[in-house]
Amino acid sequence: MQAFRIQGGKSLRGEVAIGGAKNAGLPAMAAALLTQDPVVLSNVPDLDDIRLMGKILQNLGCEFAFSGGTATIAAKYIDGNPEYEFVRQMRASICLLGPMLARMRRVTMPLPGGCVIGQRPIDLHLHGLRKLGCEIFLQNGLIHASAASLRGTSIFLGGRYGSTVTGTANILCAATLAKGTTIIQSASCEPEIVDLCRLLVAMGAKIDGIGGPTLTIDGVDGLRGASHRLIADRIEFGTFVIAALVTHGSLSLPDIPWFHQGAFEDILVRSGAIFERSEDRIIVRGDRSYLRPMELATLPFPGFPTDLQAPMCALLTQINGISVLTERVYPQRFMHVGELCRMGADIILENATSIVKGPSALSGAPVMASDLRSGACLCLAALAAKGESIVQRIYHIDRGYEHLDEKLHRVGAVIERESM
Ligand code: EPZ
Repeated sequence: MQAFRIQGGKSLRGEVAIGGAKNAGLPAMAAALLTQDPVVLSNVPDLDDIRLMGKILQNLGCEFAFSGGTATIAAKYIDGNPEYEFVRQMRASICLLGPMLARMRRVTMPLPGGCVIGQRPIDLHLHGLRKLGCEIFLQNGLIHASAASLRGTSIFLGGRYGSTVTGTANILCAATLAKGTTIIQSASCEPEIVDLCRLLVAMGAKIDGIGGPTLTIDGVDGLRGASHRLIADRIEFGTFVIAALVTHGSLSLPDIPWFHQGAFEDILVRSGAIFERSEDRIIVRGDRSYLRPMELATLPFPGFPTDLQAPMCALLTQINGISVLTERVYPQRFMHVGELCRMGADIILENATSIVKGPSALSGAPVMASDLRSGACLCLAALAAKGESIVQRIYHIDRGYEHLDEKLHRVGAVIERESM
């Protein structure tokens, strides 16, 4: 088991590279199943989840090559079903359901489990696929799905927490090869879904309304291969913005489209953070002691992203005043709070709201990551803390952050990866 040993108190300064978006890459890799031709994806981050998706695709009979940020998937033929051993490790493997049904018309795959951020239902995925004409039943922890044919229709895909990102990806992929027109209402507007639409269009799909909550897909007889460059990872970007602010530092980041992180930048600028744009770079700086407390709630895009809720919580502990953060996407996504309090944070949890009193003098401690974003949160807190922290179970972090320790080290963090 590996851990990060972090000495806090250093201000981070310098240039950081931001990789391709994990949550754009995973559905894009699954979408490659829609054609027998090779699909070439560039700007693909070297992450455990990406490599796991590659293993799943190879296990299905696809050719998969990944080097230098380029992933090539050739699904000439597909044999078998996604295996439990792989699916249980990554919820995002659910993205395979729609493309496999569109291609094979039959698939049996394990139900993805829940995880520490809360219940991860797939009722909306199944609702949308059934509306397209699939027969689906759940038995022995497996999804048994089949469709004599897929027929376009109108689908409302919203749930009690709003839109579903991978649910939209699944229905979108299946609809590209359905007979007739499909209208998806309450589709996810996340930039990662926009990126998937762009790949599908490059493969020959006909999609209107890209970027909005209503997507119209005219089914086609077949799709071709394509080359596509993934968008930058807005969550990695936001994590490093917080790293600059929580350490009184100043980091230069590649500028990502403003509208990809509008809510995040807006709340920080209103709190007093400084974002200076020049050409294709953005310099983020701010003295955490002058930042003003915030009131925010996570929402589907373009609202504040739930994946930056935990990292933001680390910053809120250092801001003078009382900040209120409500989690409206995953109401239980607070595994980081207990560990932050062990470091000296003053946070009260009231159902899906955390009330954060700052500034707290954080002290280094051994802490445990419980998921990808709580792990990032604990690293940020450790950077701000006095003394040494050991962030354990960093395999969670390696799933979604490319060489986080190396990138932080390059801008002045005292951080070492070691085996425990
Ligand atoms: C995607 O997960 C991301 N993962 C998550 O990122 C992200 O947190 C999430 O979207 C929200 O933005 C990938 O893209 C691979 P949802 P997804 O379906 O698609 C409820 C990370 O850290 N819901 O949009 O699984 C659900 O319970 C990961 O990178 C239903 O009720 O999330 C949640 O409350 C974590 N029924 C809300 O909708 C359904 O059928 C949003 O879930 C599906 C979802």
